[in-house]
Amino acid sequence: MYVCPRCKGTLLAFACNKCGAQYPLINGIPSFLQGPSADERQFVRDVYDDIYSHHENVWADQGRSEKFIGFFSDLVASLPHGSLLEVGCGEGTLLAALPGEHKFGIDPSIHALARAAKRSTARCAVALAEDLPFPANAFDMVVSVGVMEHFANPDAATAEICRVLRDDGHYVALIHTDLSRSQRIALKIREFLFPKFRPLAFGSWIKKKLWRPIRQPLRKSYTIESARDCLQRGGFLVKRLVTRQSDPAAPLAGSHVIIFVVQKAAG
Ligand SMILES: C[S@@+](CC[C@H](N)C(=O)[O-])C[C@H]1O[C@@H](n2cnc3c(N)ncnc32)[C@H](O)[C@@H]1O
Ligand SMILES: [Zn+2]
Repeated sequence: MYVCPRCKGTLLAFACNKCGAQYPLINGIPSFLQGPSADERQFVRDVYDDIYSHHENVWADQGRSEKFIGFFSDLVASLPHGSLLEVGCGEGTLLAALPGEHKFGIDPSIHALARAAKRSTARCAVALAEDLPFPANAFDMVVSVGVMEHFANPDAATAEICRVLRDDGHYVALIHTDLSRSQRIALKIREFLFPKFRPLAFGSWIKKKLWRPIRQPLRKSYTIESARDCLQRGGFLVKRLVTRQSDPAAPLAGSHVIIFVVQKAAG
C-alpha cells in the first residue's frame, strides 16, 4: 500500500525503486520522516516526540470525550468509509473507535504511534500530511481532528489529502477557530469551574501547564471562512458544517470547534 512520500515511486522492502530513498521500520512502524533536526519537518517531528514522550492522553482534556468520539465515529460511519486514513492520529484513541475495514493512521511522532498501534488494528506510519506515503485514490475517507491548525503548509497538506482520496471520497476535518483571550478564559471556567466544579480535571490541567507545558511547534489562525477557502483551494466541495449552532446536541468543546464534511471535487 505504501509509496515513497517524496517521489510516489513504489517501495520494495521500504526502499524506493525510483529515487532510491530508504525508510526504516521502528518497532514494526515504518518511518517516512528520517534525518537530523535541521529541517523544519524533522523539527516538527522532534517537538511532538518530546510532547508524547513526557505526557499521555495529551489532548483528552480538549474535548475528546467518549461522547465526542462516539459522535465523530457515527458521522464518519454515515458516509462511505471502507478504507480510511486518520491524519495526525496521535495516540490513536479516535482511530481505534472509527469504522473502516482497512484503517491507516499517520503522525510525525513515533511515541504517539507506538500507543496508537497497541490501541487499534490500524496500520500506523510516521509521516506528515504534506508528504503522504500513499498512492492516489487510495481511500474512501480521510479524517483529522485538531490537526489542520498545525500543518506547516496547509495548502500542500490539503492537496495531498485530496490526492489520496478516491473520486467523491470524503474528508471530515475538525478544526479549532480562533478565540480571543477572554473567550479562552470563559471556556476554561466552563470546563473546570462552573456550572460543575471538576477538581481532578482542573488539577491535572494545572499540573500539565506547570510541569513541561505543552507547546506545539506551529499554530495557524483560522476563521470558518479561511478554513473553507483552504479546503476549496485543495480541491474539495464543502458539503456540511457541524457547529454548536447547526447541531446544538453535538458534543463539541465550544462554539469555536467546527467539523467540516467535504468531498473531493470531480475532475
Ligand atoms: C492537537 S494534536 C491532535 C491529535 C489527535 N488528532 C487527537 O485529537 O487526539 C495534533 C496532532 O497532529 C500531528 N501533526 C502535527 N503536524 C502534522 C502534520 N504536518 N501532518 C500530520 N500530523 C501532524 C501531531 O503530531 C499531533 O499528534
Ligand atoms: Zn522515491
